[in-house]
Amino acid sequence: MSAEILAAAEALRRGELVIIPTETVYGLGANAADGQAVARIFEAKGRPRFNPLISHVAGAEAAARLIRMDARAEALAQAFWPGPLTLVAPAAPDCSISELARAGLDTVAVRVPGHPVALELLSAFDGPVAAPSANRSGRPSPTTLADALGEVGGAVAAALDGGPCEVGLESTVVSITRQGVALLRPGGITREALQAVVGPLVEIRDDKVRSPGRLTLHYAPNAPVRLNVETPRADDAYLAFGPGPADAAPAGAPNVWNLSPTGDLREAAANLFAYLRAADRTAPRRIAIAPIPDEGLGEAINDRLKRAAGYVG
Ligand code: TXA
Ligand code: MG
Repeated sequence: MSAEILAAAEALRRGELVIIPTETVYGLGANAADGQAVARIFEAKGRPRFNPLISHVAGAEAAARLIRMDARAEALAQAFWPGPLTLVAPAAPDCSISELARAGLDTVAVRVPGHPVALELLSAFDGPVAAPSANRSGRPSPTTLADALGEVGGAVAAALDGGPCEVGLESTVVSITRQGVALLRPGGITREALQAVVGPLVEIRDDKVRSPGRLTLHYAPNAPVRLNVETPRADDAYLAFGPGPADAAPAGAPNVWNLSPTGDLREAAANLFAYLRAADRTAPRRIAIAPIPDEGLGEAINDRLKRAAGYVG
């Protein structure tokens, strides 16, 4: 294994970002199990939105530790991995993917990329790597290392050259559901090729299951969410931020989780979905959230919170 690959694997272990060549497009990778590392991905993309990310692994055995692989998933993996197919399926019981990479969902997206450099890195790192395309938000996906460096070069600790991408467009994303196998994002593997393996695909109209890039699909709390709350009520669950606000809670009252006691937005992003879930589990009258500064990752945190509060569709 080359020194470059080993250095890139080390950078991933330290929670840093790495530009990764794949057969589809260049990816901006981070340790998928480390929420703060994943937060850096969103930060580096600029004007970020917390969409669920694809986790990349070296083979089907590693994938089976992340998602429940039923017969349909096995057949698709057998037919198309390594290659431009992403499987979305229920998380395996001890799935290591961070809540932020999952956007709080119960399902996980996984693929085994068909590129020798990517596969070497994934073997060297020996863990799942979350990687969206290595472009700034709203810009085209890079298909050469030079393009990827031009987009996010300033944010990465390592960048691997794999030559120009063969496929040039993102992987096909399919969801393995009880109703059948559904196409969520068209890509490198065609509908016909999928149907030859699993039979007719099903249409999914339920927005909770559908995903494509254009649609935000997120964990939505059951309790109503109120934003910019400085002083929570006794029957609130409270998500505080920074030093101080947690103390604003009335005595004996709310269940308080501090997204980041030091006021670190990266830490807050990493904790966001896990704490929303924890707060929701207490079945509170409402989930009250402290003001979060609207700068850097705060923009994505506030975007997500506005959606949870129902201000944005
Ligand atoms: O070709 C590719 O797939 C590239 C290269 C770098 O591998 N990666 C890529 O990753 O496009 P990303 O994370 O940007 O793709 C995420 C896609 C989105 O359409 C997202 O909605 C969907 O996968 N997705 C991820 N997790 C999901 C989930 N749990 N349920 C439904 N869709 C999910
Ligand atoms: Mg993209």
